[in-house]
Amino acid sequence: MNFADSEVVGAILTAAGHTVVTTVEEATFLLINTCAIRDNAEQRVRHRVRELRAIQNRHRELRIGILGCMAERLQSRLMAEEDNLSLVCGPDAYRRLPELIEQVRNGQQAAETELSTTETYADIEPVRLGSNGISAYISIMRGCQNYCSYCVVPYTRGRERSRDPQTIVAEARSLFDRGYREVTLLGQNVNSYEWRVENGEWRTESGERRVENGERRVGFPELMDMVASIDPQLRVRFATSHPKDLSDKLLEVMAAHQNICRCIHLPVQSGSNRMLKAMNRKYTVEWYLDRVDAIRRFMPDCSITTDVIAGFCGETLDDHQATLDLFHKVRYDYAFMFKYSEREGTYASRHMPDDILDAEKTRRLNEIIALQGQIALENNQKEIGREYEVLVEGVSHRSDKQLFGRNSQNKVIVFDRGDAQPGTYRRVRVDSCTAATLLGTLV
Ligand code: 5AD
Ligand code: SF4
Repeated sequence: MNFADSEVVGAILTAAGHTVVTTVEEATFLLINTCAIRDNAEQRVRHRVRELRAIQNRHRELRIGILGCMAERLQSRLMAEEDNLSLVCGPDAYRRLPELIEQVRNGQQAAETELSTTETYADIEPVRLGSNGISAYISIMRGCQNYCSYCVVPYTRGRERSRDPQTIVAEARSLFDRGYREVTLLGQNVNSYEWRVENGEWRTESGERRVENGERRVGFPELMDMVASIDPQLRVRFATSHPKDLSDKLLEVMAAHQNICRCIHLPVQSGSNRMLKAMNRKYTVEWYLDRVDAIRRFMPDCSITTDVIAGFCGETLDDHQATLDLFHKVRYDYAFMFKYSEREGTYASRHMPDDILDAEKTRRLNEIIALQGQIALENNQKEIGREYEVLVEGVSHRSDKQLFGRNSQNKVIVFDRGDAQPGTYRRVRVDSCTAATLLGTLV
């Protein structure tokens, strides 16, 4: 999400006559896009800002600004606490960045953290920063109003709003025409994507009305169908799906398009109904397992990945065991695993004591990590002997004689390069594996 936002910022600043550079030495302004989801993400940013003081001592005109969720959360308090900062700008205010930079150049500090109910940057064609020219992110909606009790996102990114589907399809098509072969559609909860057409007209971002013959409502399944229909050679991925909203209709659309990748990120957060209720996730373990069954019914070869939080408020050993049991049942291909980090302003921080000791959170987290490592390895071992169509992405980090790419399930496969070229599809047979990577041979 942040990567996609940085690309929008790149486009806004380029249009205003600024140039994106790749080293701090060349820069006169350094903008750091930030995440506020866990405290350690924020601490890393603060550490980086303090380190930059040394560079600012040598390079006197260098100014530093903070963008994104941390800017939104802390607002101008951040500039009071880190006195080498000159600018803070929240996620809905990027169009004002050229003006704010000008303000700083005139010797002032600048802060803009107003949230919007309509901003989607729909008309901005992002500048692809550090892109491999093969895969790109497309933001399809912004904000979140699910208010999971532990989560700061609804406060830092504002109300949920969807982007005009026509601009999304146009962006995907333009990427495909320029040689890109994979797009990932992004939103905090893509399943609640919704664009309404009133009286047979499209209502555009700016409120302008255009007459169109078409559907009256575009939901996420319809949007996926539109993007996947651009070209069978364009792979389409998406993230993230909230389990409460994952519909059979979406699974049907996925199954009907071979180029929609067989991979669903379905954050579970906990395997205990008591914890799910405390987290305000609005589903039960039984509901979640039913969605997993539905995925496997529609697409038996679909990989499933998740997010999980260890040591949420009041989590007992039984609750923790229920999470481990769920991991045994689902057998995820990959998981992002976190310790609960209390965030100021959230429902949990106001009403639920953060009562699991850090050492115990770490112990539970490590137990989940060990189990998931074992499951991922076993899942990968089952892949040995299978053949996959791989989108070749580039040279392997380990050896320049090898390339790497991903299969539809989003698994990384490394293979001897032969005559394969990045940006093309090749069939690869899996010969061996680790828990993280498949090793194969061109067929
Ligand atoms: N503490 C720990 N993990 C969190 N996440 C969100 N908020 C918190 C928090 N306060 C995790 C969730 C979410 C992922 C993006 O980050 O698992 O799905
Ligand atoms: Fe946070 Fe829940 Fe929204 Fe995800 S769905 S961003 S965890 S509030």
